[in-house]
Amino acid sequence: MACTDKGFYVGMVLGIVMSSMVASCSAYFFKDTELTWGGERGKIFNGGQLLSLSLDKFSGSGFQSKKEFLFGRIDMDIKLVSGNSAGTVTTFYLSSQGPNHDEIDFEFLGNVSGDPYILHTNVFSQGKGNREQQFYPWFDPTVNFHRYSIVWKPQHIIFMVDDIPIRVFTNEEAKGVPFPNKQAMRMYSSLWNADDWATRGGLVKTDWSKAPFTAYFRNFKATDLSLSSSSKSLSDSHVESNGLDANGRRRVRWAQKHFMIYNYCTDLKRFPQGLPPECKRSRF
Ligand SMILES: *[C@@H]1O[C@H](CO)[C@@H](O)[C@H](O)[C@H]1NC(C)=O
Repeated sequence: MACTDKGFYVGMVLGIVMSSMVASCSAYFFKDTELTWGGERGKIFNGGQLLSLSLDKFSGSGFQSKKEFLFGRIDMDIKLVSGNSAGTVTTFYLSSQGPNHDEIDFEFLGNVSGDPYILHTNVFSQGKGNREQQFYPWFDPTVNFHRYSIVWKPQHIIFMVDDIPIRVFTNEEAKGVPFPNKQAMRMYSSLWNADDWATRGGLVKTDWSKAPFTAYFRNFKATDLSLSSSSKSLSDSHVESNGLDANGRRRVRWAQKHFMIYNYCTDLKRFPQGLPPECKRSRF
């Protein structure tokens, strides 16, 4: 079967067959996305298999998926800005539009050479975020490509790095916690200047003498899970329909024990009135 834009929708109807179809279309990824800002700062190479974004004094750049979907899994291999990346932020996230938007974020906060990036995650539902968890990566994210994934299902959201789950946000609407499950989202990715807060809370500014700053992207894959969400997707390592398997749970504990540097769920100073309800039971 030809790999066309229709594959995305045909796949939804065919259910499980979709995974392999979408996989076979992943090389055509950049046909499914568009550079949306930054002009020449966004570039596509290798017949559409590699994309770079850059940032200079005048502007950053970004791209987004042409399609939106309600539940899905997105994967992207990213090689972050190397050298002195302080003040820069690279993003890879899902978002809906409008004032009460939903959003599921990966943000990579740069640093001076040799000091660690921060891998920042957040979940917005109906316009409200404030659910940050941050990690130091266990590798140098600027030397090689690493895979970052968001699994968004009606039951939960899972953040993964190189297929290792690092965070689970469970649907706890029963406890009154809003969960993003009504608004379709698009994938967005960008590189921009945020030296007012990104590095050591804004203390370290972008060194423009090192510009342009460049990050690289490849192997984007969007798997629509809207109809097949009850069937186990073949590509979901460690992910079961109700959450993680035992091995996946071990890995989340490993990542959180050794690499988590901030968790809103333990920030009592920030929530003097009491921690948000979703923080009470789950350790994640
Ligand atoms: C940058 O390095 C400093 C010093 O090691 C560290 O405190 C900080 O968390 C690192 N990351 C960012 C994004 O500020």
